[in-house]
Amino acid sequence: MSPPLLEARDLQGGYGRLRVLRGVSLQVRAGEIVLLLGRNGSGRSTLLQILMGLLPGTGSLWLAGHALHTLPSHRRARLGLGYVPEQRDIFPGLSVRQNLALGAKPGADPSLTPWTEAHVLVRFPALAARLHTAAHHLSGGEQQMLALARTLLGNPRLLLLDEPTQGLAPQRVAETAELLTQLRATGLGILLVEQRPWALDLADRVVVLGDQQVQFSGAPACLPSAVSDAWL
Ligand SMILES: Nc1ncnc2c1ncn2[C@@H]1O[C@H](COP(=O)(O)OP(=O)(O)OP(=O)(O)O)[C@@H](O)[C@H]1O
Ligand SMILES: [Mg+2]
Repeated sequence: MSPPLLEARDLQGGYGRLRVLRGVSLQVRAGEIVLLLGRNGSGRSTLLQILMGLLPGTGSLWLAGHALHTLPSHRRARLGLGYVPEQRDIFPGLSVRQNLALGAKPGADPSLTPWTEAHVLVRFPALAARLHTAAHHLSGGEQQMLALARTLLGNPRLLLLDEPTQGLAPQRVAETAELLTQLRATGLGILLVEQRPWALDLADRVVVLGDQQVQFSGAPACLPSAVSDAWL
């Protein structure tokens, strides 16, 4: 089996004196979707932020063989870690095009990078139609698309997605699931936080957080029904 694309070992972290994670280890392989489940407040968003370097944490982290744990978030992004936060973090006063431009890695050769502005606009036609619109005029679903499209423009190897379909209409949810399937087929690794049945259908593996640790890691079919019945 190929070595993991992302490997986290013994991650710990939280907010000041509030410890949220105590020794979390997980792996994501290339071309794999790992679904991260847990109760509200179990630390899923905190874990993604620690992985991205946006919150301090201890433990070790590698992406495609590069040690990330000592690097600031912008260097993690340069090495291929892409993050779409729960609150999307788009710039409301900037146009769609300006928001997209912020996602591209400076100096990247467009002929060598699969995701360019032209490519994302084909994939997200709703954004193409609103290229010069200020982002705050977009609907919640369009803002979600913009956040994902902007992250793809950084040409990540691994995506950290925090509830990417929260608040979306069913049609948009289905489109997102289809896009994630296509991204996986290109070899991207995806660590997905979602609390919906479609995500379990899509996932190759599931990791369950609870009591500050990993409570379960394995195939979706092996997920204890108490978990899937309660949360999905
Ligand atoms: N900025 C913050 N300052 C202090 N505590 C925080 C902060 N953000 C989250 N917490 C706390 O950290 C714990 C984990 O929160 P986190 O947001 O990671 O959970 P989650 O699993 O993503 O849940 P949900 O998305 O349902 O809120 C919770 O107890 C939460 O109250
Ligand atoms: Mg969260």
